[in-house]
Amino acid sequence: MRILITGGAGCLGSNLVEHWIPAGHEILVIDNFTTGKREVLPEIGGLYVKEGSVADGKLMEEAFGSFEPEVVVHSAASYKDPKNWIEDTATNVMGAVLVAKESIRKGVKRIINFQTALCYGHPQQIPVPVNHPLAPFTSYGISKTAGELYLLLAKLPVISLRLANICGPRLAIGPIPTFYKRLKAERDCFCSDTVRDFMDISDFFTLMDELLVISDLPTGVFNVSTGEGHSIKEVYDIVAKFLGIKPPEVPIISPGIDDVAVMVLDPTQTERILGWKTSVSFEETITRQLKWYEAHGVSDVFSHLMQPGKKERDEC
Ligand SMILES: NC(=O)c1ccc[n+]([C@@H]2O[C@H](COP(=O)([O-])OP(=O)(O)OC[C@H]3O[C@@H](n4cnc5c(N)ncnc54)[C@H](O)[C@@H]3O)[C@@H](O)[C@H]2O)c1
Repeated sequence: MRILITGGAGCLGSNLVEHWIPAGHEILVIDNFTTGKREVLPEIGGLYVKEGSVADGKLMEEAFGSFEPEVVVHSAASYKDPKNWIEDTATNVMGAVLVAKESIRKGVKRIINFQTALCYGHPQQIPVPVNHPLAPFTSYGISKTAGELYLLLAKLPVISLRLANICGPRLAIGPIPTFYKRLKAERDCFCSDTVRDFMDISDFFTLMDELLVISDLPTGVFNVSTGEGHSIKEVYDIVAKFLGIKPPEVPIISPGIDDVAVMVLDPTQTERILGWKTSVSFEETITRQLKWYEAHGVSDVFSHLMQPGKKERDEC
């Protein structure tokens, strides 16, 4: 199958490349290497890489025209500077619009979009059902939500996956790489007083493999998660245990203005419609991630959040 992956040099995209190339798929990656890295994409038969932005209409037209993808996985996203509304809008809105436009033009069979749980804003219900109202309140959340809505307008099958925190090779965002790096260097940590759901990449692969082949897939949105919430302090304790140290006392800080206290997605509908369910436990998910860092190290750690505890929103 010919699969175009936008943002294919990022964490999820590059894992999909590693997973799908040995299975015989041909893949074209479009990436501007803002948070992804060129070197994670091997020089290997069946993998093509185009450097540039999904917001560049000419580049997108050429890429779709020459590669003629059957499936598009839209993984590119801008989030690393919460004040850069222009870049977030260009990548997350215009990028999605161009993915939709080019996919329609080239008769793509299916678009799989990755969405952030921040589309739900501060949830009124936990776990968050997939029909919960959309209420994003950050530049990343707002622009990703607009992008998803444009994709859902396209008259072809679009599956938008609202993702939990997926753990796997090269994860460079969130508490696990941060605690691992800091505790190992004997530096102080703090835990935000928040709860999240963490999911292992192997469970994500199972779903993605299924989505490539499943027939008669209607357009729709799906929560992809374990449905289980765990505090950031629990993550901290597992990292300390893994490193063989008694967890140092750690301040628990209230979430910043752009953060959400509890975000746990309800996967019930996804399980029912797609017949998919996670299988890796929370502790095993975090431990696998830490074993990967032991073997490969942690690269730069990015965040879509402003400083925790901050009470005022920055202007763009
Ligand atoms: N990883 C998770 O647990 C998670 C959770 C929720 C949502 N998501 C969504 O999944 C997708 C992938 O996330 P990730 O964790 O792999 O992030 P990532 O930052 O590792 O990957 C994003 C990739 O997009 C690229 N990119 C950014 N702007 C671009 C542009 N204008 N044109 C082309 N490429 C561009 C980056 O260089 C990077 O390689 C994103 O859409 C994100 O919103 C991920």
